[in-house]
Amino acid sequence: MALTHIVLLGPPGAGKGTQAKQIIEKLGVVHLSTGDILRDEVGRETELGTTAKGFMDRGELVPDQLIIDMIRGRIEAASSGFLLDGFPRTTAQAEALSQFATIDVVLNITLHRDEVVRRLTGRRVCRSCGKIYNLTFNLKEGQTACEACGGELYQRDDDKTDVIENRYDVYETSTAPLIEYYTKQNVLRTLDGSLGSERVFAEIIDILTA
Ligand code: AP5
Repeated sequence: MALTHIVLLGPPGAGKGTQAKQIIEKLGVVHLSTGDILRDEVGRETELGTTAKGFMDRGELVPDQLIIDMIRGRIEAASSGFLLDGFPRTTAQAEALSQFATIDVVLNITLHRDEVVRRLTGRRVCRSCGKIYNLTFNLKEGQTACEACGGELYQRDDDKTDVIENRYDVYETSTAPLIEYYTKQNVLRTLDGSLGSERVFAEIIDILTA
């Protein structure tokens, strides 16, 4: 039987969102991306979105308690299983998560800083369906619309070089300690995110269905 309580860990641009879309199609678990939920709150100009926007635009983390309050109910409601993408991101978030959910596996996707910057400056995202593209390998010259739904492709506000560098620093300081945290719990599996996305996906499915 496949593992269904899954965490995706890794630096910005490692491919968490790209892999998540394929994993949920294959396993039927709920995709819970704190970044996507926050961007939706920002777009709707809610109180949470207005508070979060400044942190996100600077590439800093949104305060732990706001994130935990935002995600807890969604995780508890995911009776067919969940794929957490971008959460937990600090030890405090991981400890809070352990109070209300068990985790089967943490998929730690690695990627060096230089490649993170290269990928994220070239990322474009569909405003309607969220499909993720990259100028270097799957966008045609001059393409501005999503091939899946025709939606407008845009560049995220935090995909500017200086903000990307800050996000990577924040990852190293605040999130990378979770590698040791989950290694000690015997649930961490590491994947080389510099490989092609089909190869990474195949390795993930092997882990989840072994
Ligand atoms: P979030 O949206 O979670 O961003 P992130 O973790 O920085 O991750 P990204 O979405 O940038 O990258 P990804 O790993 O999903 O890569 P992708 O698949 O798109 O968070 C944004 C902000 O929200 C944070 O900075 C923070 O402010 C706030 N936030 C969110 N969660 C929070 C939390 N828990 N606590 C506090 N604050 C929080 O791929 C990137 C590019 O590479 C794409 O162009 C893709 O096409 C390409 N690509 C993917 N895989 C491959 C491959 N194998 N080979 C070549 N190219 C590839």
